[in-house]
Amino acid sequence: MKVLILAVIALAAVSQAAIDPSKIKPVFQTVTPLIPAITPKVVGGQEADPHGVPFQVAVENNRGGFCGGSIIGKTLVLTAAHCVDSATWVDVTAGAHRIFENEPTQQKIRSSKIVVHKDWNTSNLANDIALVHLSSELNLDNTARIVDLNQDTSTSLVGVQAIVSGWGRYSDGSGALSQWLRYGVSNIMSKQDCQRFFGSIITDNHVCLDGSKGVGACNGDSGGPLSIAQNDNPLQVGLVSFGSGAGCEKGYPTVYTNVARYSDWIAQNSN
Ligand SMILES: *[C@@H]1O[C@H](CO)[C@@H](O)[C@H](O)[C@H]1NC(C)=O
Repeated sequence: MKVLILAVIALAAVSQAAIDPSKIKPVFQTVTPLIPAITPKVVGGQEADPHGVPFQVAVENNRGGFCGGSIIGKTLVLTAAHCVDSATWVDVTAGAHRIFENEPTQQKIRSSKIVVHKDWNTSNLANDIALVHLSSELNLDNTARIVDLNQDTSTSLVGVQAIVSGWGRYSDGSGALSQWLRYGVSNIMSKQDCQRFFGSIITDNHVCLDGSKGVGACNGDSGGPLSIAQNDNPLQVGLVSFGSGAGCEKGYPTVYTNVARYSDWIAQNSN
């Protein structure tokens, strides 16, 4: 059973080739049975209110790969290393809901620089984080805004309700990306519980989202935000990294890079 990087359909073959499946497998065989999803999904989620996640962007790379990302500065986007590690440039689209249509709110800006974490490891998927610097400033408005990043590494997030969003594949049966932005809500689970599924590749540098109700990220969601509500404001706590190769709706947790653990790296690479 392979762990699947939640990359782009087009890139999936490339990305998976880099993973040693014998090293990364869910160690826990009997997962919670899938509760049939009633609603459309991220998987298991629903259509977001247009611009309800205004810090969400699409990141499309020059090799045809599609990912998510988040706005963390006027010229700065946070995404996953596996989304951009082989790219020479990416186009970032902010202000989008129906991503494949020409919406007047959309702003598409090409990267000027991509910074992939130097310790990004394609075999155990550690340090799956990257920054995209934009060649011009985003116009910030109610369809494109900066999200605060969690910087608190000491407060436990276990049990906290979190939202994952993206244009990724919305069911195991669908080969295509979602036409509109979707989100799903579930609870953050403990490192120990997550390790029962994925073993020791799960560290404090990850946040895991309970997938037992069939909610989670899927292919094409990679790099996108996992956020919680803090004083009525969204706070990004994770970015989509990987899930189980068994499928997105099989009850496995989905795994996110724990952004609080990378505050220093982000600060050091923001200019
Ligand atoms: C990447 O992870 C593998 C598996 O844990 C490890 O053996 C290898 O040393 C790591 N590579 C680097 C460059 O740290």
